[in-house]
Amino acid sequence: MPLNTIEAIRARYSCRGFSDQIPAAEDLRLIAEAGLAAPSGMNRQLWRVIVVKNKQLIDDLEAEGLKNIAAFPDNGLYAHIMARGGKLFYNARCMIVIPIGKTEPAGAELFDCGIIAENIALAATSLGINNLICGLAAFSFAGEKNNEFKQRLDFPPGYEIGLAILLGYAANTGGKPHEPDFSKIKFIE
Ligand SMILES: Cc1cc2nc3c(=O)[nH]c(=O)nc-3n(C[C@H](O)[C@H](O)[C@H](O)COP(=O)(O)O)c2cc1C
Repeated sequence: MPLNTIEAIRARYSCRGFSDQIPAAEDLRLIAEAGLAAPSGMNRQLWRVIVVKNKQLIDDLEAEGLKNIAAFPDNGLYAHIMARGGKLFYNARCMIVIPIGKTEPAGAELFDCGIIAENIALAATSLGINNLICGLAAFSFAGEKNNEFKQRLDFPPGYEIGLAILLGYAANTGGKPHEPDFSKIKFIE
């Protein structure tokens, strides 16, 4: 039985170690369609949902992302990634890449991208599929292979990388939701 919405919101956490198991095609279809049900400003829907199961492509994206991060003058981020295992994608064998179109005023598309990503993460959690919203995936597109990857992932013209969502099954049972700070809620009556 899928988790209901409140259960899925409470159960979701960022998984940072995936097994080799790829989610079933039918589950991936449900998750991708849940993404498309997301709201967007003025219903512009300037997004695509690219479900990637090709290991070579995922490996190539990861290698290029790490290479681009390593080339930063400030090596803080690279050192942080190396300290936690040297992986951008945590062995995930499946990911959804969200390319996004440009909006006027610029930047509004980022809200839409975040919302579609969360729809995907919650739909996956509800189906028992672990996930992680991966902003660092943008670094795979930050160097000389930008156009090559856009082509391999079939981005429409003018679309840029938004976010990726890693999908799969946790390799261990260590992960758990973060502790919410309930003091951040105020009711004003
Ligand atoms: C827009 C966005 C981008 C993120 N990018 C990454 C990422 O590239 N790598 C990563 O390990 N976690 C990433 N995260 C996960 C956050 O680190 C995580 O949500 C946060 O630490 C809270 O933990 P939780 O998701 O387990 O509740 C991202 C989260 C969001 C919302």
